[in-house]
Amino acid sequence: MRRTSVAFLLVIAAACSSDPDVTVVEPVSTETTSTDGSEPVVTDGEPVDSVGEPSTTISDGDVPAVGGRDGVGDSFYPSMGNGGYFVDDYSLNLDVDVDGNELDATATISATASEELSTFHLDLHGLEVTSVGVDGQPATFDREADELIITPAEPIASESAFEVEVDYEGTPEPIADPGVPLDSVGWQNREGTVYVASEPSGAKSWFPSNNHPSDKATFTFVITADSDLTAVANGVREDLVDNGDGTTTTTWNMSDQMTTYLAAIYVGDFELRESTTDDGLRIRNYFPPAFADDLEDDFELTADVIDFYEELFGADYPFAEYGSIVLPFSTGFALENQTISVHGLDATDPYTIAHEIMHQWAGNSVTVAQWQDIWLLEGFATYLAYMYFEDRGLNSQIEPQGMYSALRSGFSIGPAEVPIDELFGLSVYFRGGMTLHALRVDVGDDAFQEIMAVYYERNAGERASTEEFQAIVEEIAGADALDVVNSWLFGLELPPFPE
Ligand code: ARG
Ligand code: ZN
Repeated sequence: MRRTSVAFLLVIAAACSSDPDVTVVEPVSTETTSTDGSEPVVTDGEPVDSVGEPSTTISDGDVPAVGGRDGVGDSFYPSMGNGGYFVDDYSLNLDVDVDGNELDATATISATASEELSTFHLDLHGLEVTSVGVDGQPATFDREADELIITPAEPIASESAFEVEVDYEGTPEPIADPGVPLDSVGWQNREGTVYVASEPSGAKSWFPSNNHPSDKATFTFVITADSDLTAVANGVREDLVDNGDGTTTTTWNMSDQMTTYLAAIYVGDFELRESTTDDGLRIRNYFPPAFADDLEDDFELTADVIDFYEELFGADYPFAEYGSIVLPFSTGFALENQTISVHGLDATDPYTIAHEIMHQWAGNSVTVAQWQDIWLLEGFATYLAYMYFEDRGLNSQIEPQGMYSALRSGFSIGPAEVPIDELFGLSVYFRGGMTLHALRVDVGDDAFQEIMAVYYERNAGERASTEEFQAIVEEIAGADALDVVNSWLFGLELPPFPE
């Protein structure tokens, strides 16, 4: 390993800010560690895959074209997702024993085959699978690493819909993910609280899925847990049934498309605090009771931040409801789980709140076609969160000059070509954010806003790629603006501060 140095954004944010209480923790390292000991692969202005195979099977919102087997061609995560089908809906029936950290579950997955399937894969890590059925018939199955390989009694015809039912149980284990070297991802159980933080690969720690952002689906969560606890998941709470045996079953429905890494449940001691925006959007926040009054004040800006992005993108908030859940302990991060962002108790500052709300547009509604494009999430959320505070005349904990200073003192690589262990690093957040700042300075506010609105309008509810963003910049603002964007997205050299 070469040149490894790790600095939490706690440090970075403090350097960017006049506010000593900043607790945003996002980029995890400031320098590139090349996993094979070689220099990162960088060419002049050209996107390259610095890790793994070239990504030829996924592009520009297209669907991947790999057969009934493992992987969809993600250059960072070759075995993530599966070929041969697309999921339409996940219905997850989850009995959660928080004290024992046990899950007893049935996943019912409705999918459509994109080719004839005599076998197919789901992604699942650990846990014991007790039975699998396909279209009501028992199916045979194998486990190989984190793949659940299913052989239905009859092959599934191409283009036909099918339903898979997987019964499974056990203690979910969080997953070591090469993109998040300092944390584990997925299911977590801590201090009487179960929560989920899956980005990028952790969904497979708690349900079988086609675990790649290229396959979005709707979700239902039917959670049974101790009646003293509150069970929260993505979407709208539909039902709450007291089973009369000390347990309660809570049903949540996510009727908009969602990627697996944004699926989340939370079971613990939470207090609901509700409000509505002027437009009637329901905001339901879940806070640890001991901190609920203070947190209610901290999160009061939510409605105004939503207004700001609705105006910037010229489009309504993408989902039926929004809210945040705050854990009763520090985690060092927040994560934009769709309609219900999770915040550690140490990550409830205004900047982080705005950042996670922003992700509901960039990241959740518009998802990446492959993980190498992550700057389209984190660069956008970093810069557009700053723009909210700038627009409202408020101090922003992260701003262009501070980002630039942090980039100048670290190792810089284009955010569109970082290696996998920099997925959540400084370049993706800050150089990705500066890419948008440089574009805005170059083209002016009106053209910048038009680029944002067109990018969102063309990709809402679907996926986008760096190439598509580049094409929109060129279409709206011309070749010179694209050159500016490319000088920030690619290459080892940090461009001069935009003025
Ligand atoms: N997407 C999250 C955010 O910026 C970062 C998640 C990092 N994950 C982690 N387990 N530390 O908003
Ligand atoms: Zn983010």
